[in-house]
Amino acid sequence: MHSRLYFFIILILLEFVFVTGAPSLLAKVIANKVSNEGSSNKVKSDVSSKSSSSSSASSSASGCFASDTLITLSNKKQIPIEQLQSNDKLLTTDGSIIFSTQFMLMLDENRFSQAMFHTITTASGHNVSLTGLHLIPIIENNNTINYIPAKQIKINDNVYVMSNDQLISSAVTSVTIETKTGYYAPMTTSGTLFAGGIMTSSYANVQNHEAAHFSMGLLRFYYWLAQLLFINEPFGHQNIEGIHIVPKAMYELVQFLYPSALRFS
Ligand SMILES: *[C@@H]1O[C@H](CO)[C@@H](O)[C@H](O)[C@H]1NC(C)=O
Ligand SMILES: *[C@@H]1O[C@H](CO)[C@@H](O)[C@H](O)[C@H]1NC(C)=O
Repeated sequence: MHSRLYFFIILILLEFVFVTGAPSLLAKVIANKVSNEGSSNKVKSDVSSKSSSSSSASSSASGCFASDTLITLSNKKQIPIEQLQSNDKLLTTDGSIIFSTQFMLMLDENRFSQAMFHTITTASGHNVSLTGLHLIPIIENNNTINYIPAKQIKINDNVYVMSNDQLISSAVTSVTIETKTGYYAPMTTSGTLFAGGIMTSSYANVQNHEAAHFSMGLLRFYYWLAQLLFINEPFGHQNIEGIHIVPKAMYELVQFLYPSALRFS
């Protein structure tokens, strides 16, 4: 109990040093992304955030997976998202190889609230239900990965799926919008995971995946340290509903210092 408290204090101190000490790198990331994404994107997200404002009435539900989502473990078994335990090993990919990552914590979780999900089905027969602002990588024509909010996914966009243990790209064949009960936002050390066999991001609500992953660097460092020191449940019990306090504090700090990095759509 004491050691956990101790590390939280170190975490907060380190975060302060880290965030204030690394502004140029972060600024570079931001500058890159903001100029890349241009103003058309901004307009689009403004329009759609207006039209979907009813769905984000519970604003915290804006970046999650539905409760019927299956997550692929590193032993290739799939388990329901709500059964994930801290330290579980999951499979993920960087677009070229499949590798193992670790489930750290649920950034957000709610078993009982309803949310509106975009269910994406692929030609390979996979499907995943995400809230509109959750990021999912699509494969551009030049083979680069581009993380976009689920609500911007279109038919014929290509996504990465794991089919017969192989990484393949598959075209989106349908996108339907449906209301489901319960939502979960698992965070992994790589920031990515296979949900319903489709490669997805851990992040949502943010301008870009890389900045979100960067801002969670200290959380990963803390997690790594905790494992090194055999601290069980480094983030405490997971049975609290809602957004986890640590990532929330981290998001808020980065948002305060560099609002453009994590601009909430
Ligand atoms: C999604 O996939 C699961 C299992 O992979 C399947 O049971 C379910 O019927 C699929 N749902 C849709 C809407 O295709
Ligand atoms: C790949 O294509 C996308 C979209 O067409 C573009 O934004 C990106 O800059 C391209 N990347 C490279 C390395 O050419």
